[in-house]
Amino acid sequence: MKSAYLSALAAFFTYSVSAQTTAPDWGQCGGTGWTGPTTCPTGWSCTFSSQWYSQCLQGGATTTITSSTVGSGTSTRTSTGTSTASSTSTAPGGSATLAPGYSFVRAVEDPNFHKYLQSQVLGTASPAVLGDYTQAAQFQVVNGQLIQNANGTNLYAVVAPPANSTVTKLGLSWSKTPDTLGTFVFSGDSLEWSSPTVPRQQTNAWLVCPSGSILSVFINLGAYDYMTPAGCADETLNAYTGATAVP
Ligand SMILES: *[C@@H]1O[C@H](CO)[C@@H](O)[C@H](O)[C@H]1NC(C)=O
Ligand SMILES: *[C@@H]1O[C@H](CO)[C@@H](O)[C@H](O)[C@H]1NC(C)=O
Repeated sequence: MKSAYLSALAAFFTYSVSAQTTAPDWGQCGGTGWTGPTTCPTGWSCTFSSQWYSQCLQGGATTTITSSTVGSGTSTRTSTGTSTASSTSTAPGGSATLAPGYSFVRAVEDPNFHKYLQSQVLGTASPAVLGDYTQAAQFQVVNGQLIQNANGTNLYAVVAPPANSTVTKLGLSWSKTPDTLGTFVFSGDSLEWSSPTVPRQQTNAWLVCPSGSILSVFINLGAYDYMTPAGCADETLNAYTGATAVP
């Protein structure tokens, strides 16, 4: 535990040596003993996480989600983040055309750059995975629910409750019935999830953990890019509203 912390600290420190005065996107910007940059890029803010760690997050970052009653709140679509959506272009042999009011959702960080959110068994109630752009599913956030348009039928993203307090990631799957644990929201174009009963350091931190060729998606209960579980990659999940999904 301690050595993991020290090596994480060392990694950040090494990174900061070349980072001059501004921390990188998602980079550390403060914490006890931190000697690296303490300012964040334009559009990002240095956000306190713990005594040991502050991090550059997009926009106002730790967006307050109206935590009212789960499943009954109004949809909160705040726009604090800077949009990273690129211009639209149509790829040959691309995905289906985006339906009005829907978004594709994709990862934008290696090793899962422009892999798109979908069902493991396409269009069905099955685990949430990232996959090829040609099979990108389409989503809306309504009343705190992330809803996949599965060929005209709604599939809801549901989060597996933590078995105990040592669990660091939560499974995500598609269901015909809504999530009862928490609230999804797009903050800017960044997909976030929070729950009144599940403490999280960062509401936009996701993990993608391969199992064979299947890229399973999890809620990360820790901070982005910090003590990442073995075999997993840190990701944010971002809305993309081009006419079709692109590689
Ligand atoms: C969607 O509906 C069309 C037309 O009914 C059908 O051909 C297609 O197989 C369906 N796709 C899925 C993923 O269910
Ligand atoms: C917590 O839950 C996980 C996942 O079910 C399990 O593997 C682990 O042994 C549990 N730990 C404790 C302390 O109960």
